[in-house]
Amino acid sequence: MRQDRMTEDNLRIVPGHPLRGELGPDEKFALPGDKSLSHRAALFAAMAEGQSRIENFLVSGVTRAMLDALTALGIDWELEGTTLQVEGKGLTDPGNYEEQVEIDCGNSGTTLRLLAGALAAWNLPALLDGSPGLRRRPMGRIISPLQQMGVRIEGVDGCAPLRLLPTQLPLLAIDHTLSVASAQVKSCLLLAALAANGPTTLREPGPSRDHTERMLGAMGVEVSRRENYLTCITPPGLRPLKPLHMSLPGDISAAAFLIVAALITPGSQITLRGVGLNPTRTGLLEALVAMGGDVQVANRSQQGGEPMGDLIVSYSRLDGVQVDGNLVVRMIDEFPAFAVAAAFAQGRTVVSEASELRYKESDRISALCAELSALGVQVSEKEDGFVIQGGRPPKGGAVDPHGDHRLAMSLAVAGLATEEGVSVREARIIHESFPEFASVLEYLGAVVRGED
Ligand code: S3P
Repeated sequence: MRQDRMTEDNLRIVPGHPLRGELGPDEKFALPGDKSLSHRAALFAAMAEGQSRIENFLVSGVTRAMLDALTALGIDWELEGTTLQVEGKGLTDPGNYEEQVEIDCGNSGTTLRLLAGALAAWNLPALLDGSPGLRRRPMGRIISPLQQMGVRIEGVDGCAPLRLLPTQLPLLAIDHTLSVASAQVKSCLLLAALAANGPTTLREPGPSRDHTERMLGAMGVEVSRRENYLTCITPPGLRPLKPLHMSLPGDISAAAFLIVAALITPGSQITLRGVGLNPTRTGLLEALVAMGGDVQVANRSQQGGEPMGDLIVSYSRLDGVQVDGNLVVRMIDEFPAFAVAAAFAQGRTVVSEASELRYKESDRISALCAELSALGVQVSEKEDGFVIQGGRPPKGGAVDPHGDHRLAMSLAVAGLATEEGVSVREARIIHESFPEFASVLEYLGAVVRGED
């Protein structure tokens, strides 16, 4: 991994410097590979037969947790730069375990939930655990449907640690309705369903990201999406999963911080090449365009069934907007960045039907409201969202990211356009998903200081 210059604990962003320039494969810096796709590519490759090669893999704290888990399962992989090669073990023989494997998922909900499904399909006894932050997140939503499939899994009050015990294969095919639109839950169950005795049907209340469906489809599994967010998967039986050969698109959730940074900082114009534009992930772009943001898309293409393209973003005068319903699902990770855009927009921005934000890396409703108001933003907390009254540039100040990488990066970019800049305490958490964040910001023209 290229080492980032940010080794200090605190990050200070000095205001008043526009962002200009380009990120892409031919530049000094490119966007990191998509986090959701990196998790899936590593794990699904382990379940395939043969060698997979994944380029532009995200090398960061959370994906390290997934790679360490694969090591604990006896799966060989090699990382050279951002190219990952994985020796797949197939669906039926990941190793020979008499005792349970203990896996530390760190701070990564995706690692834990996806692994639970894969381990169920492999029928491997395991203990899945992680950070105190991960132990706080709800796991009942995977425990109960996995149990219906015949998986012997138990948690502690519906949370991690999760214990998986040996069971009888095949698992039982189910028809299950998810209470929240969640790609992590859906993906967990789709992976378990690979070892089921017939087709499994999953129904969701909204359009959660569909990377698992697309990637498993590319690996030869029959998986279809029908109307009303209904997903149906047919187990491959004796047919092995084909290995993956794919270059991952840039992470739109990492791009989000830079997009908002350029929109709020006068004089900015940036080009981000090779950004993933899966329609289940592009809600933020729609919300920002509705606010008057100048975000252009060029050079659309596809990689391994995933749409991508270049984004050209210019400083814009923004107006407040309302966000609810399916748009919330399609921008679920982008609310910290979006709230910063709203703080610089004229008028009111209202976010509702977003209570799922309380179960992310932090309680993103209360943490965002607390830290934005520390910067001088007028914000009020609601049970299922928040209201921001934008207008005057906020004063700035020192903030706490609540152990949440996305909060840290969003608050940092707010510093570009506040009166006094922003200092983010304990900013190392950024390494969870975007280790080169500070260097990339500097490369685009920001003035960034590390502080002890
Ligand atoms: C993810 C799905 C989302 C998202 C998370 C990554 C994934 O969670 O918040 O960062 O890779 O499947 P939910 O599916 O629980 O909403």
